[in-house]
Amino acid sequence: TDLVDLGAMEHIINATVKFVKKELEGAEGGHDWWHIHRVWQRSKLIAQKEKADLLVVELGALLHDIADAKFHDGNEEIGPVKAVAFMQTQNIPAGTIKHVENIIRHISFKGGNNAREFYSPELGIVQDADRLDALGAIGIARAFNYGGFKNRPLYDPAIKPRLQMTREEYKASTAPTINHFYEKLLLLKDRMNTATGKALAEEKHAFMETFLEKFYEEWEGA
Ligand code: ADP
Ligand code: NI
Repeated sequence: TDLVDLGAMEHIINATVKFVKKELEGAEGGHDWWHIHRVWQRSKLIAQKEKADLLVVELGALLHDIADAKFHDGNEEIGPVKAVAFMQTQNIPAGTIKHVENIIRHISFKGGNNAREFYSPELGIVQDADRLDALGAIGIARAFNYGGFKNRPLYDPAIKPRLQMTREEYKASTAPTINHFYEKLLLLKDRMNTATGKALAEEKHAFMETFLEKFYEEWEGA
């Protein structure tokens, strides 16, 4: 296996933190360094309970969002290519670089967990940590910040949730941010990979349901 001693690992992680902070200067509030920081810390927490290569977990967490395709005209290559180029400047074993690249390429939500082309316990951990950041109080803040960034309405009682729309109707609509809860956020708790992730997700899910109840109550002027 690819062994890296603790001193070398600390050096690599410090250099990576510095690189990622620089890459994310000026990023949207839900996808900035602090998102990475939360995912990194939470990945380490989950990894304590799982058998995993910690260097792969930490690098995966730190490098998973340095160039999200959403903010780069849908280009999905920039992120992994930049991450690999950075890792090659460090003393990181080739097998570790490949594994981290695979994590970055396969962490995203698209299609849930269907037909996974790649899976490893390390991907499972980082993916859970990333998904958990879309839930709970932080998840709510991130969703509305992204909606604001896209100039979307908070809610529109006349717009049906996506699942009730045809594809054409959906493409033509500017879906309000509330719809995102039904399209994605409320589905995440059933897609966790690890037991720790699942437990954390249940709690954050319940909080979002309470939030939505209050939201509709207050919408009517209550
Ligand atoms: P992933 O990186 O796992 O593919 P996303 O980048 O889609 O996930 O989601 C990251 C964050 O951006 C989440 O907090 C999510 O709620 C928010 N987000 C993504 N798309 C939307 C949207 N259409 N409306 C509101 N928030 C969104
Ligand atoms: Ni992320």
